[in-house]
Amino acid sequence: MDENKVIIITGGASGIGREAAYLLAEAGNAIVVADFNEEGAKETASNIEAQGGKAATFKVDVSKAEEVEAMVDFAVDTFGTLNGIFNNAGIGLVKPLLEMDPASYHKVIDVDQHSVYYGIYYGAKKMVELGAKGTIVNTASIYGSMAAKGSFNYNAAKAAVVMMSRSGALELAEHGIRVVGVAPGFIDTPILGEDEEMKKALSALHMHNKLIQPEKVASVVKFLFSEEAAAINGSTVAVDDGFLSFK
Ligand SMILES: NC(=O)c1ccc[n+]([C@@H]2O[C@H](COP(=O)([O-])OP(=O)(O)OC[C@H]3O[C@@H](n4cnc5c(N)ncnc54)[C@H](O)[C@@H]3O)[C@@H](O)[C@H]2O)c1
Repeated sequence: MDENKVIIITGGASGIGREAAYLLAEAGNAIVVADFNEEGAKETASNIEAQGGKAATFKVDVSKAEEVEAMVDFAVDTFGTLNGIFNNAGIGLVKPLLEMDPASYHKVIDVDQHSVYYGIYYGAKKMVELGAKGTIVNTASIYGSMAAKGSFNYNAAKAAVVMMSRSGALELAEHGIRVVGVAPGFIDTPILGEDEEMKKALSALHMHNKLIQPEKVASVVKFLFSEEAAAINGSTVAVDDGFLSFK
């Protein structure tokens, strides 16, 4: 069983990141719950501790390089090493292309794309410096491989995440670091907002006609961090209930 690893999870205050934090902590790993929502991160960490697990929180804006670097240092200062990073924090900002002004474009690129570069760069550098082997998992999306109206910014960011997982894997294999991606379909988390009609329409895009629960993505992420997934490298695994396979 995989245990006693130190894993940073960005976006750990909510949704997929929170559920991944619970599962990876339950398996015996120490988790740094990183998010700019401090309150949510603390809630995740205290739930882990209440179950006898190890967790610490770090307030980070993943779109800022220096904050991601500080997050990596914090993990090592707190738990002594670093074996994994789940680059998962993200946002959406839906707009037609003809209204996709530079600010709307860059906002999503900064949070969903550049953050993954920062996580891979600072995370891997630290692991190599420590001689620690490990795994980096990046959250992409089905929209990293198919276009959606209103998602020019998000499509661009998530496609880059798919390629960063491949490219990162290629360069880091010699250091004993695997880099992989996970591509969720529509997951029942706060990122989708409150519009129930829209959620119903999105549900119909999956083979079981419902949104996927975040625990289902988290269990795949837990697997990707494990030794059982040792031969998965550079690829992005779809957790999409058939979204990309039909219609
Ligand atoms: N929910 C879906 O349908 C879906 C589908 C495909 C991909 N994803 C991706 O999954 C990831 C997790 O999303 P989720 O569905 O769990 O949503 P969520 O809103 O529940 O969680 C996202 C978390 O990221 C944090 N965050 C946002 N911007 C941040 C920043 N700049 N710095 C630090 N933290 C920040 C938020 O505070 C939040 O806790 C995202 O990358 C998202 O794009 C989600």
